[in-house]
Amino acid sequence: MREVIVAGNWKMNATKEMTNTLVMGVLNGLSDVNAKVIACVPFPYLSQAVALTTHSQLNIGAQNLNTNESGAFTGEVSAEMIKDLDVQYVIVGHSERRSLYGETDKIVAEKIEIAINNGLTPLFCVGELLSEREEGNTEAVVGRQVRAVIDRVGIEAFRDIIVAYEPVWAIGTGVTATPEQAQETHAFIRSVLADNDNDIAQSTPILYGGSMNPINAEELIGCKDIDGGLIGGASLKADSFLQICRAG
Ligand code: PGA
Repeated sequence: MREVIVAGNWKMNATKEMTNTLVMGVLNGLSDVNAKVIACVPFPYLSQAVALTTHSQLNIGAQNLNTNESGAFTGEVSAEMIKDLDVQYVIVGHSERRSLYGETDKIVAEKIEIAINNGLTPLFCVGELLSEREEGNTEAVVGRQVRAVIDRVGIEAFRDIIVAYEPVWAIGTGVTATPEQAQETHAFIRSVLADNDNDIAQSTPILYGGSMNPINAEELIGCKDIDGGLIGGASLKADSFLQICRAG
């Protein structure tokens, strides 16, 4: 049995006060939650979030990292720095990074590699644009994104990778993939992993992301190959995030 994982992606939303309120709000509601819960907070608030969650059920993650170990890369943050803050998780290849900051499959694969080399667990995001879905290219696109990482780090590395399928047309739009659409693509992603190693494919968590909310979470997470969610908007309120956590 794969465990259910619910990860919040706060994106570029936080203050010290909000971090305190949201983290404490989630912590206070976790006693009846069985899922593994992660909050991916902006870099400046990682230390604060880690300090608030020591020895708790709430895990903290970052949202990005640089492909280099260290050096002259002004404004960038390394895997080693994230690990040094006692942060275990990092989102890699989110569609906003791919579309707004030019992250190619190659860059995403390099980021996954450096995350793993530094003992971090990547939340590796894949997903197609609306035009790609409409052209019938969902599997071609998602397959290419997954294979680029397998080719770089090898299938064994997927023992320490969480995959997130996020159809770009569903992110922040209020339009969710139907459970059938999501399940179909999740099964496809698992089959791509299984082409390389069936045991690893069966044990790799594949989360769904894209307008998941307290109303649709249970049905989505109930699908055979959907192992939880990566939540943007609905992770910014403790109540709605916790309701999704309880759906798992
Ligand atoms: P959303 O974002 O839940 O607001 O659609 C999901 C994500 O971008 O990870």
